[in-house]
Formats: sequence, C-alpha cells, structure tokens
Amino acid sequence: MSTTTLDSSFRIKNLELRNRTVMAPMCQYSVHEKDGTPTDWHYVHYVSRAVGGVGLIIVEMTNVEPAGRITDGCLGLWADEQIPAFRRIVDAAHGHGAKIGIQIAHAGRKATDDPSPVAPSAIPFDDRSKTPRELTTDEVKAMVLKFGEATRRAVEAGFDTIELHGAHGYLIHQFHSPRSNTRDDEYGRDLTLFGREVIAEVKHNMPEDMPLLFRISALEYTEGGYGIETGIELCRAYLEAGVDLLHISTGGEGVPSAERRPKVEPAFQLHAAQAVKEALGVPVIAVGMLDDPAVASEALASGKADLIAVARGLLRDPYWALHAIAASGGNYKTAVPKPYERGF
Ligand SMILES: Cc1cc2nc3c(=O)[nH]c(=O)nc-3n(C[C@H](O)[C@H](O)[C@H](O)COP(=O)(O)O)c2cc1C
Repeated sequence: MSTTTLDSSFRIKNLELRNRTVMAPMCQYSVHEKDGTPTDWHYVHYVSRAVGGVGLIIVEMTNVEPAGRITDGCLGLWADEQIPAFRRIVDAAHGHGAKIGIQIAHAGRKATDDPSPVAPSAIPFDDRSKTPRELTTDEVKAMVLKFGEATRRAVEAGFDTIELHGAHGYLIHQFHSPRSNTRDDEYGRDLTLFGREVIAEVKHNMPEDMPLLFRISALEYTEGGYGIETGIELCRAYLEAGVDLLHISTGGEGVPSAERRPKVEPAFQLHAAQAVKEALGVPVIAVGMLDDPAVASEALASGKADLIAVARGLLRDPYWALHAIAASGGNYKTAVPKPYERGF
C-alpha cells in the first residue's frame, strides 16, 4: 500500500482535490457595508491561497441570517444579491486549480454585535455575554430552512462543497451540548435533532454527488463538557443523517476548566480526528497546529487523517501548500503557477 503524502490527490463523491491541503475557515471580519457581502479583501485573500497551491479552500463562517453573525463584519448568504460576489471568488479559485467550499453557520449566542442574539436556551456564553433569547419551536424549524436557503445560494455561486459549522460553540454545537440546550421541546429531548434536520435540509439543496462536510468539536474543555466518547456518538448521528466528511476540531464552547485545558502544541487535536476515524471508519480532516510539514506529513502517512487543514500557517504564508509539499519531497511543480516557476 502506498503512503499518503501531502501531494496525493483525494476524491470524495465528485469532489476531486489536487492535494491533501485544506485552507481552514477563518473569519476575516472585513465586510465593509455590514451587508454580509464579500469585498476585494476576500477576493484577494482566497484567490491568493488558490494561487498558493491549496487543494481545498473553505471560505470562512458565512451566516444564514444577519443575527447569526459574530460581528457586523462577517459574511452572509441570506439574500440572492450576495451570490455574485461569492461567484467571483469561486470562479477565480477554480481558475487556479483549487476546489472551494464554504462554511455555512449561525453564531447563536456567540453573536456579539446583534442587540438580541438567539440560542436554544436563554443561557449566556459567559458572564460578559448578552443573555440570548430562546428560539421558539417554530423559529427553530424556520432556522433549519434558512440553512437550506443559504446552501442553495452557495451552490448557485458554484461552490464545490458545503461545510456545516457544528463546532466552537456556534448554533449547531449549542443545540447538541447539554450545557447550552435545556429546552423542553423535541429539540431539547433529542440534542442532535436540530443538526440532523439542518443536514437533511442542506442536502436537499445540494446536488446528490456533492459531498457534505461537517466541522465538529469532538470534545469540550469546560467543566462538565462532553468527552471524546460522546463526540464520537455525535459524529455517528450526523453521519447517519448524511454527512460525508468530518472536520475534527475541539472546544470553543466556553472557558476551559483547569483540569481539561488542552496543551496547545503541534497536532494537539489530531488524537480526536484519529479517534473518530478509527471508531467510525470515515474520512476526516484534521486541524490544529499542523503547519510544520513534517507533522502534517506524519498525520497523513500514519493514517490518522485524510486531509490536513491549516489556518494561521496560511495567514503567514499564502504559499504554505507549495512550501509544505516541497519540504516533504513531494511534487509541487504542477501546482506552481507558470509565471511563478522561476521563484520555485
Ligand atoms: C483569524 C481566525 C479566524 C477563524 N475563523 C474560523 C471560522 O470562521 N470558522 C471555524 O470553524 N474556525 C475558525 N477559526 C479556527 C481555525 O479554522 C482553526 O481551526 C484554528 O485556527 C486551528 O488551526 P491552526 O493551528 O492551523 O491555526 C479561525 C481561526 C483564526 C486564526
């Protein structure tokens, strides 16, 4: 069996990637007119990572309604008028050989600029946050449809895949975490119901052969938070509902307790990706301080992860993918743009 390397191609459903590098979603807080629409900043930011050889770009958290934004500077796909600015980025990324997906989300109680954030229950994120208003059951059902509508728009914009943001204490995570969901309707009795309904609705708005990605915090760090065993069961429920590829992160749901606070070091979340992959036999994206090419290569070669996502490393170096492939002895040449060949 040949070893998986950073330059190996990857295919899931009709999504075919030129290599194993993924640009992790990263909010840019750079929308000018509070209208959720990408600006030239977003165009340059994403297209330069396509030029830089990334296999799959995942556009930052993009919200299904204005109240779902962390800040007024965040992206949204709640109106058809927003589609063309996304399409411009998608077309250019394709022109440079990258595939591009988008993270569809709602911040829930972590929306900071909105005067009256909503959440599964009226429990604030922390003692400095606003107390959110509990969504009514009808509003939860309407929210599911908003995720579907945003997905329809993303598909119209030409994105190759959709990632649902079920991690870091945002709305889907708020529903499946018992610390933030104390509802007494069906969405509280079954903590994954909201996420599973979102998955079904989103898939309804995607072509059948397009894979659905799901980012999850596979364990929590707060006092009384869930551990990896529960994280695996959450992943199982979402896979059964139709997710194709899991993007494994951790935490983000509150202040870590002294005992559970992770040691933030290279590959510090890889154990969670490995645990999910081994338990469920699914392809996984690993993330979290994987920007040392040797560490990233080992995560692939050992079979702990199928794809390597990098966030901050790609802020520092838009050519991280090319540099990492070159550093690990791989074939980067086919991904170097012709006008840049002499630089590599
Ligand atoms: C500036 C910035 C913005 C981020 N925004 C998002 C986001 O929109 N969605 C998300 O799921 N994670 C977001 N993250 C988390 C990253 O995707 C990633 O999981 C984290 O930074 C760990 O990866 P790294 O060690 O390669 O930076 C963000 C991180 C940074 C640094």
